[in-house]
Amino acid sequence: MADSESLIDICESSALLNGGRGVRFEVDVGGRNAPAFAVRYGGRAFAYLNRCAHVSMELDWLPGMFFDFDAEHLMCATHGAFYDPVTGACRGGACAGYGGLRTLVVVERDGRVLWQPDGYAEPLRLAD
Ligand code: FES
Repeated sequence: MADSESLIDICESSALLNGGRGVRFEVDVGGRNAPAFAVRYGGRAFAYLNRCAHVSMELDWLPGMFFDFDAEHLMCATHGAFYDPVTGACRGGACAGYGGLRTLVVVERDGRVLWQPDGYAEPLRLAD
């Protein structure tokens, strides 16, 4: 169970519809801002770094548009890699042999989608 003290608010649960537009947010990876996103699939919320396994490009073909036409896979706009929305694993296309998306752990509580930092992806640091 996630420690509620360390959960970071991402969005309202209602902002994520099954196979619909995702919500973009940013995390800190190694001291740099890194784009990330949350989507809903099969009724559950999932989140990933917004970084294709093929080439380090953001996936969405318009801001927040991550699903393919059938809303069954997450698709990279650059070369058309397909990813499993539940696991982030490559399911075909240009990501074959490159692994999958980097998962971020999210939970839903009280109508909110919350992200659990994991030591690799951390909350953005506030400017001094
Ligand atoms: S950069 Fe995503 S498929 Fe090539």
